[in-house]
Amino acid sequence: MHEALQQFIETRLPLIDQRLHELIMATNMPENLKKAMAYSVDAGGKRIRPLLVLATLQDIGKRSDDALTVACAVEMIHTYSLIHDDLPCMDDDDFRRGKPTNHKVFGEAVAVLAGDALQALAFRSLTELGSTPPEKAVAIMKLLGSASGAEGMVGGQILDMEGEDKQLSLEELETVHLNKTGALLSFCIEAGAILGDLDEKGSAQLRTYAKNIGLAFQIKDDILDITSTTEQLGKTAGSDTSSQKSTYPSLLGLEGAIERLEYHHQTAKEAIGFLGDDSSMLGMFADYIVERNS
Ligand code: IPE
Ligand code: IPE
Ligand code: MG
Ligand code: MG
Ligand code: MG
Repeated sequence: MHEALQQFIETRLPLIDQRLHELIMATNMPENLKKAMAYSVDAGGKRIRPLLVLATLQDIGKRSDDALTVACAVEMIHTYSLIHDDLPCMDDDDFRRGKPTNHKVFGEAVAVLAGDALQALAFRSLTELGSTPPEKAVAIMKLLGSASGAEGMVGGQILDMEGEDKQLSLEELETVHLNKTGALLSFCIEAGAILGDLDEKGSAQLRTYAKNIGLAFQIKDDILDITSTTEQLGKTAGSDTSSQKSTYPSLLGLEGAIERLEYHHQTAKEAIGFLGDDSSMLGMFADYIVERNS
């Protein structure tokens, strides 16, 4: 990882972790539900989504007191999606973020409810943006609603399940990936652009970047599922093969998947040429997304 990106992550990560924990602890709710929500959120993970919100603002040279709240909202949505994704009725996985999955510890019903509550808390948090004009706050809520719901992540999860045990075309697979994973990642960059008042031309370039890193991120996830170990990933390796998922490696072979990964990596980087030299945070994030081992 680039040293400047490592430094950026090291300084932001504790702020994200702390705010997430506080948001959950400040909520008045039954103790077991709170424990289950905190269990998955505090287990960590790479925090790529919240970091991308902050990195976008940094690259466009702006700051916003609300960036951390928006960053934590999308991470709560992401964490809820992982809790539900691991359920026996979905991918049926036992490990996540280096620990037993939420339903293994708290049972299925509590895991479903912990996911539900994280989703609601994410949207409630966005009603408390103190330094953002209301019309922008509403635009961010609307974007998150689209990115996380039927026309985004949830829609993609349905297509992903429907793609089990059959071979999708590349176009169909791209649609699955853009929705189940790309939509939330795109939200992070678009929300950063809104908070930072980026003009329409720059925002359009960032949307191209976001679409391509969204695809690259899930292609890499599919590749790691077959090339890495459970220990390294902190989640069950080989899960896609055992559930006969449609993935880039299953459609194109490992080499073909790596080629598509590189194509989307390069396209993403070209789209952000306007940010200047190679030292943009988003450029370094694109490299990290394709080079990561977990
Ligand atoms: C895993 O996401 C689920 C996908 C969308 C591929 P991450 O790889 O970002 O998981 P964490 O947050 O680091 O655990
Ligand atoms: C998950 O895709 C996308 C989500 C919306 C959670 P995967 O099912 O490939 O994610 P992992 O590999 O379990 O993290
Ligand atoms: Mg899945
Ligand atoms: Mg899964
Ligand atoms: Mg996966």
